[in-house]
Amino acid sequence: MVNRQFRSIVLIGMMGAGKSSVGRCLHHRTGLALHDIDEVVVSKFGMSIPEIFAEHGEKKFREAETEAVCSLPTPEQKIIITGGGIVLRNENVEVLRHHGVIVWLDGDEESLFTRASRQRNRPLLETTNPRKSFSQILGARRPLYANIADIRVDTSVLTDEEVAVAILSKLTRFNRKSGSTIPVVAS
Ligand code: S3P
Repeated sequence: MVNRQFRSIVLIGMMGAGKSSVGRCLHHRTGLALHDIDEVVVSKFGMSIPEIFAEHGEKKFREAETEAVCSLPTPEQKIIITGGGIVLRNENVEVLRHHGVIVWLDGDEESLFTRASRQRNRPLLETTNPRKSFSQILGARRPLYANIADIRVDTSVLTDEEVAVAILSKLTRFNRKSGSTIPVVAS
């Protein structure tokens, strides 16, 4: 049985779900520290994610991702932003579950793809048919996200702020059931 006493907020979900921007909204609303796994990996290599994939390959990226997850500080409550592929390794999932409540930012496929393809910084979408690649990745991952999520929020028609508010409201209900202590600061 995993120990889930620390009760951080862990954001998971597909590329384009808005994890980073929603994480920042949550940070402003709760005052909790923000930890972005992709940012940790980027600063470890001193290069962008597309450069890491191109020069070192996806395997090295995934290893660094796991290393970053494993070196998250445990005693503090925080907001953890993950990359879309974090659910590919069980060890990541185990550690994240230990940290707190897993919040899955979901959405309809078209909305997610539109957002994910706005910036060309996602190497997994640099294919001959990014739309098809996205669909395949999403199809493979949705069951993984669903399997570990404590809370799911459909982000399709919501702004980042609205998603943050929805998360905090669902957390209040979740906390009541589970006796958790995530500070919920309204603003
Ligand atoms: C990935 C998602 C990216 C980043 C990397 C791999 C994935 O993060 O970690 O490009 O496998 O889905 P975002 O989910 O923030 O785009």
